[in-house]
Amino acid sequence: MESVLGYHDAKALLAWQIELGATEAIGDTPVNRYELPEKSAKPAVAASPARVDGPVAPGPEPTIDPVTVAKSATANAGSLDGLKSALAAFPHCDLQRGARNLVFCDGVAGARVMIIGEAPGRDEDREGRPFVGRAGQLLDRMFAAIGLGRAPERPEHGIYITNVLPWRPPQNRDPTAEEIAMMRPFVARHVELANPDLVVLMGNISCDAGLGKRGITRLRGTWTSAYGKPALPMVHPAYLLRTPSAKREAWADLLSLQARLRGSA
Ligand code: URA
Repeated sequence: MESVLGYHDAKALLAWQIELGATEAIGDTPVNRYELPEKSAKPAVAASPARVDGPVAPGPEPTIDPVTVAKSATANAGSLDGLKSALAAFPHCDLQRGARNLVFCDGVAGARVMIIGEAPGRDEDREGRPFVGRAGQLLDRMFAAIGLGRAPERPEHGIYITNVLPWRPPQNRDPTAEEIAMMRPFVARHVELANPDLVVLMGNISCDAGLGKRGITRLRGTWTSAYGKPALPMVHPAYLLRTPSAKREAWADLLSLQARLRGSA
Protein backbone atom coordinates (compact mmCIF):
# COMPACT_ATOMS: atom_id res chain seq x y z
CA MET A 1 0.00 0.00 0.00
CA GLU A 2 1.29 3.45 -0.88
CA SER A 3 2.03 5.38 2.35
CA VAL A 4 0.20 8.67 2.76
CA LEU A 5 2.92 9.85 5.17
CA GLY A 6 5.82 11.95 3.96
CA TYR A 7 9.39 10.91 4.72
CA HIS A 8 9.84 13.16 7.79
CA ASP A 9 6.40 12.32 9.28
CA ALA A 10 7.06 8.59 8.84
CA LYS A 11 10.49 8.95 10.44
CA ALA A 12 9.10 10.95 13.38
CA LEU A 13 6.32 8.36 13.86
CA LEU A 14 8.84 5.53 13.89
CA ALA A 15 11.07 7.37 16.40
CA TRP A 16 8.01 7.92 18.63
CA GLN A 17 7.09 4.24 18.52
CA ILE A 18 10.65 3.24 19.42
CA GLU A 19 10.52 5.70 22.33
CA LEU A 20 7.34 3.95 23.51
CA GLY A 21 9.23 0.64 23.60
CA ALA A 22 8.46 -0.96 20.22
CA THR A 23 11.26 -3.38 19.37
CA GLU A 24 9.94 -5.12 16.27
CA ALA A 25 7.75 -4.49 13.28
CA ILE A 26 4.73 -6.84 13.09
CA GLY A 27 2.39 -7.20 10.13
CA ASP A 28 -1.44 -7.33 10.25
CA THR A 29 -1.65 -11.03 9.28
CA PRO A 30 0.36 -13.78 11.07
CA VAL A 31 3.09 -15.58 9.09
CA ASN A 32 4.08 -19.16 9.97
CA ARG A 33 7.79 -19.01 9.31
CA TYR A 34 8.23 -22.73 10.26
CA GLU A 35 5.81 -24.00 7.65
CA LEU A 36 7.49 -26.29 5.09
CA PRO A 37 6.69 -25.84 1.41
CA GLU A 38 4.28 -28.48 0.01
CA LYS A 39 6.28 -31.43 -1.36
CA SER A 40 3.82 -32.03 -4.17
CA ALA A 41 3.99 -28.49 -5.34
CA LYS A 42 4.95 -28.50 -8.98
CA PRO A 43 8.03 -26.50 -9.95
CA ALA A 44 7.01 -23.07 -11.01
CA VAL A 45 6.58 -22.76 -14.73
CA ALA A 46 7.74 -19.54 -16.25
CA ALA A 47 4.63 -17.49 -16.76
CA SER A 48 3.84 -16.85 -20.38
CA PRO A 49 4.09 -13.17 -21.18
CA ALA A 50 0.89 -11.30 -20.53
CA ARG A 51 -1.03 -10.44 -23.65
CA VAL A 52 -0.67 -6.84 -24.51
CA ASP A 53 -3.29 -5.15 -26.57
CA GLY A 54 -2.05 -2.32 -28.69
CA PRO A 55 1.53 -1.47 -29.70
CA VAL A 56 4.34 -3.41 -28.00
CA ALA A 57 7.30 -1.42 -26.58
CA PRO A 58 10.36 -1.88 -28.83
CA GLY A 59 13.13 -3.49 -26.74
CA PRO A 60 14.58 -2.47 -23.34
CA GLU A 61 14.27 1.04 -21.92
CA PRO A 62 17.27 3.21 -22.83
CA THR A 63 19.60 3.71 -19.85
CA ILE A 64 19.84 7.26 -18.59
CA ASP A 65 23.21 8.74 -17.71
CA PRO A 66 22.63 11.27 -14.89
CA VAL A 67 25.85 13.14 -15.75
CA THR A 68 24.67 13.73 -19.33
CA VAL A 69 21.26 14.87 -18.05
CA ALA A 70 23.00 17.20 -15.57
CA LYS A 71 25.16 18.70 -18.31
CA SER A 72 22.25 19.52 -20.54
CA ALA A 73 20.20 20.87 -17.59
CA THR A 74 23.01 23.24 -16.64
CA ALA A 75 23.66 24.35 -20.22
CA ASN A 76 20.11 25.70 -20.31
CA ALA A 77 20.45 27.60 -17.01
CA GLY A 78 21.15 31.25 -17.82
CA SER A 79 21.15 32.68 -14.29
CA LEU A 80 21.77 31.61 -10.70
CA ASP A 81 18.01 31.38 -10.12
CA GLY A 82 17.68 29.31 -13.26
CA LEU A 83 20.43 26.99 -12.06
CA LYS A 84 18.71 26.58 -8.69
CA SER A 85 15.47 25.66 -10.47
CA ALA A 86 17.36 23.19 -12.69
CA LEU A 87 18.77 21.53 -9.57
CA ALA A 88 15.35 21.36 -7.93
CA ALA A 89 13.98 19.68 -11.06
CA PHE A 90 16.88 17.22 -11.43
CA PRO A 91 15.37 13.80 -10.69
CA HIS A 92 18.46 11.55 -10.55
CA CYS A 93 19.97 12.29 -7.15
CA ASP A 94 18.23 10.26 -4.42
CA LEU A 95 19.57 12.56 -1.69
CA GLN A 96 16.85 15.02 -2.64
CA ARG A 97 14.18 12.65 -1.30
CA GLY A 98 15.55 12.61 2.25
CA ALA A 99 16.40 16.31 2.48
CA ARG A 100 14.21 19.07 3.87
CA ASN A 101 15.71 21.83 1.77
CA LEU A 102 17.79 22.41 -1.30
CA VAL A 103 20.84 24.30 -0.01
CA PHE A 104 22.02 26.41 -2.91
CA CYS A 105 24.10 29.38 -1.80
CA ASP A 106 24.66 32.19 0.65
CA GLY A 107 26.60 35.43 0.70
CA VAL A 108 27.23 37.94 -2.05
CA ALA A 109 26.55 36.76 -5.61
CA GLY A 110 29.32 38.25 -7.72
CA ALA A 111 31.85 38.27 -4.84
CA ARG A 112 35.52 37.91 -5.74
CA VAL A 113 35.85 34.80 -3.56
CA MET A 114 33.63 31.74 -3.98
CA ILE A 115 33.88 29.04 -1.32
CA ILE A 116 32.85 25.53 -2.31
CA GLY A 117 32.18 23.22 0.63
CA GLU A 118 31.10 19.60 0.75
CA ALA A 119 27.44 19.09 1.64
CA PRO A 120 24.83 20.45 4.01
CA GLY A 121 24.64 19.01 7.51
CA ARG A 122 21.62 18.97 9.82
CA ASP A 123 21.59 22.72 10.52
CA GLU A 124 22.05 23.66 6.86
CA ASP A 125 19.31 21.23 5.81
CA ARG A 126 16.95 22.87 8.32
CA GLU A 127 17.78 26.45 7.33
CA GLY A 128 18.36 25.96 3.62
CA ARG A 129 21.67 27.89 3.77
CA PRO A 130 25.22 26.54 3.59
CA PHE A 131 27.63 26.63 6.53
CA VAL A 132 25.33 27.78 9.33
CA GLY A 133 26.32 25.17 11.96
CA ARG A 134 29.48 25.12 14.11
CA ALA A 135 31.80 24.64 11.14
CA GLY A 136 30.07 27.51 9.39
CA GLN A 137 30.52 29.80 12.37
CA LEU A 138 34.23 29.02 12.35
CA LEU A 139 34.32 29.65 8.60
CA ASP A 140 32.76 33.09 9.18
CA ARG A 141 35.40 33.92 11.82
CA MET A 142 38.22 32.72 9.56
CA PHE A 143 37.19 34.94 6.66
CA ALA A 144 36.32 37.87 8.94
CA ALA A 145 39.96 37.75 10.06
CA ILE A 146 41.00 38.81 6.55
CA GLY A 147 38.16 41.32 6.21
CA LEU A 148 35.70 39.18 4.21
CA GLY A 149 32.16 38.10 5.04
CA ARG A 150 28.76 37.02 3.71
CA ALA A 151 27.07 40.32 4.58
CA PRO A 152 29.85 42.89 4.27
CA GLU A 153 29.45 46.65 4.37
CA ARG A 154 31.14 46.91 1.00
CA PRO A 155 30.38 44.39 -1.78
CA GLU A 156 34.09 43.98 -2.61
CA HIS A 157 34.55 42.42 0.83
CA GLY A 158 31.96 39.73 0.19
CA ILE A 159 32.24 35.97 -0.05
CA TYR A 160 29.89 33.69 -1.92
CA ILE A 161 29.32 30.17 -0.57
CA THR A 162 28.00 26.94 -2.01
CA ASN A 163 28.55 23.18 -1.65
CA VAL A 164 29.28 20.32 -4.05
CA LEU A 165 26.05 18.68 -2.91
CA PRO A 166 22.92 20.76 -2.40
CA TRP A 167 21.15 18.07 -0.34
CA ARG A 168 22.12 16.59 3.00
CA PRO A 169 23.34 12.99 2.77
CA PRO A 170 21.67 10.69 5.34
CA GLN A 171 23.56 10.58 8.65
CA ASN A 172 26.06 12.99 7.06
CA ARG A 173 27.70 10.13 5.21
CA ASP A 174 30.29 10.93 2.56
CA PRO A 175 28.78 11.45 -0.89
CA THR A 176 29.32 8.61 -3.34
CA ALA A 177 31.43 8.95 -6.49
CA GLU A 178 28.21 8.87 -8.56
CA GLU A 179 26.62 11.67 -6.53
CA ILE A 180 29.73 13.84 -6.91
CA ALA A 181 29.92 13.12 -10.66
CA MET A 182 26.28 14.08 -11.30
CA MET A 183 26.55 17.28 -9.22
CA ARG A 184 29.84 18.40 -10.77
CA PRO A 185 28.24 19.96 -13.91
CA PHE A 186 25.99 22.01 -11.60
CA VAL A 187 28.98 23.26 -9.58
CA ALA A 188 30.91 24.09 -12.77
CA ARG A 189 27.97 26.12 -14.09
CA HIS A 190 27.51 27.72 -10.67
CA VAL A 191 31.11 28.98 -10.80
CA GLU A 192 30.62 30.18 -14.38
CA LEU A 193 27.49 32.16 -13.46
CA ALA A 194 28.81 33.55 -10.16
CA ASN A 195 32.09 34.40 -11.92
CA PRO A 196 34.38 34.92 -8.90
CA ASP A 197 38.06 35.90 -9.26
CA LEU A 198 39.05 32.74 -7.40
CA VAL A 199 37.59 29.72 -5.65
CA VAL A 200 38.37 28.04 -2.34
CA LEU A 201 38.00 24.26 -2.36
CA MET A 202 37.01 23.55 1.20
CA GLY A 203 37.93 19.97 2.12
CA ASN A 204 38.42 16.65 0.37
CA ILE A 205 35.02 16.28 -1.33
CA SER A 206 35.40 19.72 -2.85
CA CYS A 207 38.91 18.83 -4.11
CA ASP A 208 37.53 15.58 -5.51
CA ALA A 209 34.83 17.45 -7.46
CA GLY A 210 37.07 20.33 -8.56
CA LEU A 211 40.42 18.63 -9.11
CA GLY A 212 39.56 14.94 -9.43
CA LYS A 213 41.75 14.11 -6.44
CA ARG A 214 41.76 13.99 -2.65
CA GLY A 215 44.46 14.36 0.00
CA ILE A 216 43.66 17.74 1.49
CA THR A 217 46.55 17.81 3.97
CA ARG A 218 48.90 17.50 0.98
CA LEU A 219 46.89 19.73 -1.41
CA ARG A 220 46.11 22.60 0.95
CA GLY A 221 47.89 25.88 0.52
CA THR A 222 49.06 25.24 -3.04
CA TRP A 223 47.34 27.31 -5.71
CA THR A 224 45.91 25.36 -8.59
CA SER A 225 43.08 25.74 -11.08
CA ALA A 226 39.51 24.44 -10.87
CA TYR A 227 36.41 25.23 -12.93
CA GLY A 228 38.57 27.58 -15.01
CA LYS A 229 39.51 29.75 -12.00
CA PRO A 230 42.54 30.02 -9.71
CA ALA A 231 41.74 27.70 -6.82
CA LEU A 232 43.06 27.29 -3.31
CA PRO A 233 42.42 24.00 -1.49
CA MET A 234 41.96 24.55 2.26
CA VAL A 235 41.22 22.19 5.12
CA HIS A 236 37.57 22.10 6.08
CA PRO A 237 36.56 24.08 9.20
CA ALA A 238 34.96 20.90 10.60
CA TYR A 239 38.46 19.38 10.54
CA LEU A 240 39.83 22.46 12.31
CA LEU A 241 37.24 22.01 15.06
CA ARG A 242 38.56 18.50 15.62
CA THR A 243 42.22 19.37 15.05
CA PRO A 244 42.92 22.86 16.38
CA SER A 245 46.67 22.40 15.72
CA ALA A 246 45.89 22.69 11.97
CA LYS A 247 44.68 26.28 12.45
CA ARG A 248 48.19 27.63 11.97
CA GLU A 249 48.28 26.26 8.40
CA ALA A 250 44.73 27.46 7.75
CA TRP A 251 45.81 30.95 8.79
CA ALA A 252 48.75 30.79 6.35
CA ASP A 253 46.28 29.82 3.60
CA LEU A 254 44.00 32.75 4.46
CA LEU A 255 46.95 35.14 4.23
CA SER A 256 47.87 33.63 0.86
CA LEU A 257 44.30 34.24 -0.30
CA GLN A 258 44.40 37.83 0.93
CA ALA A 259 47.72 38.44 -0.85
CA ARG A 260 46.34 37.01 -4.07
CA LEU A 261 43.27 39.27 -3.85
CA ARG A 262 45.45 42.32 -3.24
CA GLY A 263 47.79 41.38 -6.06
CA SER A 264 44.98 41.06 -8.56
CA ALA A 265 42.84 43.96 -7.26
N1 URA B 1 30.02 21.50 5.81
C1 URA B 1 30.02 21.81 4.49
O1 URA B 1 30.91 21.42 3.76
N2 URA B 1 29.02 22.56 4.02
C2 URA B 1 28.05 23.01 4.79
O2 URA B 1 27.17 23.70 4.27
C3 URA B 1 28.06 22.69 6.16
C4 URA B 1 29.06 21.94 6.65
